[in-house]
Amino acid sequence: MHATSQLALGAAAVGLAGTWAWRQRLALRPVHRASAIALALFLAAHLLGHLAGLAGAAAHQSVLEALRLIYRQPLVEGVLLGCLLFQMGSGLTLLWRGRGRRRGGVAWMQAISGGYLALFLLIHVTAVLAGRFQGVDTNLQFAAAGMHTPPWQWFFGPYYFFAVFALGTHVGCALYWNLPEPLRARALVGAMLAGWLLAVCLVVLLAGGFHVLEIPARYLAPPAGLAGRG
Ligand code: HEM
Repeated sequence: MHATSQLALGAAAVGLAGTWAWRQRLALRPVHRASAIALALFLAAHLLGHLAGLAGAAAHQSVLEALRLIYRQPLVEGVLLGCLLFQMGSGLTLLWRGRGRRRGGVAWMQAISGGYLALFLLIHVTAVLAGRFQGVDTNLQFAAAGMHTPPWQWFFGPYYFFAVFALGTHVGCALYWNLPEPLRARALVGAMLAGWLLAVCLVVLLAGGFHVLEIPARYLAPPAGLAGRG
């Protein structure tokens, strides 16, 4: 089967499953949680994989290419993108449904981090797919290009920092609601600290703070440069 058809098939299968769950009037929160657990494997590999960049761009490229062998299988990628769409849609629905009823700092941190993640993912995944359709290798240099194009580092630094920190915060809030009393606060603080530390490392890495990053001109020159900054 053609790769694009497999990708569409995967995304359609997840879309149909989501619609079925919706029609069965399954409570949205448990399905949102189940889809998050499915995504967690990709996200852990994705973000920890970026840490390979601490050993230089070539090491990052090798890890990226090894990971792509799995998640760029069209069926796997179709399911991944379908889960992401469902995650954003169900998350925004929960955000809307909870309006006016949200009480306490943790509920607000969960809502704000989730809202930011939905916005980030929309921009990030659109930019990556647009880059790929233009034949650009969407690698570390692609992700870092915006950080090396003044004054855009003032946008891309906070944009990446808050994405990774929001992910840690969002996971921490989910742990907070689901763990017993003595553990919940520690889990929340631990996840937020881990997110903060990872966010700082990745932003410094993208800025070339650990190793000088050579950004090829094709990543900086429009139109590929404009659409292709992660
Ligand atoms: C500093 C932080 C991040 C950097 C530098 C980064 C960079 C990248 C790069 C370079 C790609 C393309 C990968 C490839 O070509 O195979 C990508 C794809 C992707 N990223 Fe990120 N990312 C970051 C954070 C995140 C976060 C926080 C999320 C989710 C919450 C995320 C979700 C995704 C998804 C879903 C894809 C598309 C996978 C695909 O279908 O190819 N990323 N990212």
